[in-house]
Amino acid sequence: MNGTQLLNNIAEIRKVAEAEIAAINTLDEASACKVKYLGKKGLVTSVLQQMRDVGAEERPKIGQEVNRLKSHLEDVLQNLQEKLNTQRLEMAVASADVDVTLPGRPRPQGALHPITRIQEEALHILRGMGFSVAEGPECETDYYNFTALNFLPDHPARDMQDTFYVGESHLLRTHTSPVQIRVMEKQKPPLAIVAPGAVYRRDADVTHSPMFHQIEGLLVDKDVRMTDLKGVLTDFLQTLFGKQFSVRFRPSFFPFTEPSTEVDIQCVFCTGKGCRICKQTGWLEIMGAGMVDPEVFKSVRYDPNEFSGFAFGMGLERMAMLKYHINDIRLFFESDLRFLKQFIGRGA
Ligand code: PHE
Repeated sequence: MNGTQLLNNIAEIRKVAEAEIAAINTLDEASACKVKYLGKKGLVTSVLQQMRDVGAEERPKIGQEVNRLKSHLEDVLQNLQEKLNTQRLEMAVASADVDVTLPGRPRPQGALHPITRIQEEALHILRGMGFSVAEGPECETDYYNFTALNFLPDHPARDMQDTFYVGESHLLRTHTSPVQIRVMEKQKPPLAIVAPGAVYRRDADVTHSPMFHQIEGLLVDKDVRMTDLKGVLTDFLQTLFGKQFSVRFRPSFFPFTEPSTEVDIQCVFCTGKGCRICKQTGWLEIMGAGMVDPEVFKSVRYDPNEFSGFAFGMGLERMAMLKYHINDIRLFFESDLRFLKQFIGRGA
């Protein structure tokens, strides 16, 4: 076949192909047509092969023509297939077993428990201040829960009334302070740790639950002062609750700190004006704290003349009640979805 014949051939293929494509109604016909012209043994492909027989001077022009035909048919068939596809979908929807306009079935969405949430938020702030997270067992010995923390043998907290005993030698920890001892036995100062976890006391009413959660804090170094404690805790509480609330420190007593302090935040409900919740005082008690008692350092063989430190302990249920305005501690433990659902999607 010479060059002119081949060019005529190409024009003929184009004409026939266009007529065929115009008559196509289904996706199957479209793919068959694609194979017929553009497939490995298709008509366009065979023209490319026949180019071997024509002279070198004619080849570029013919090549150009075949390629134009090829991309033209590719485009036209591609568009046609898309059009037919859309038509098929529209028909399926119209004739349908499926009503795509129906609302979907809702899937129940989970949320973090408010205690998990306040714990994560508090730890996030404390980590940012340089504390690392430590943990200890919930089932403790009398030594770690009381003795090493300078509770005298007849201290009322050891009483069966307050403490759950487990067998002869173990008890459920009544606070997270035993983690202080466990950390100091393993590490030398300087150290700064916070220890979250569950604690247990024989107590149950609107504001007390036999199991609740605390975060303990302990920082030990040379020259740690009461002003460090005040700065760290003020900053922490104001980050958690808001800078508009003042923080105050009242003298208190704990066997393992001296001096000891109770930390109050200005009432988050009435901003200090006085209301039912703060019993008209304008203040809410939020945690216990103090300078580590030298007797505690002696239990872990730290030299009280070389080191000093502060410790604090806060109740997470109480903090969550204040932050999320919850008035009954038992709500945290009832797994009532009507309560828990209110925390879905609420920013921490
Ligand atoms: N452990 C104390 C409590 O449970 C709180 C506390 C911790 C106080 C650390 C002082 C220092 O009430």
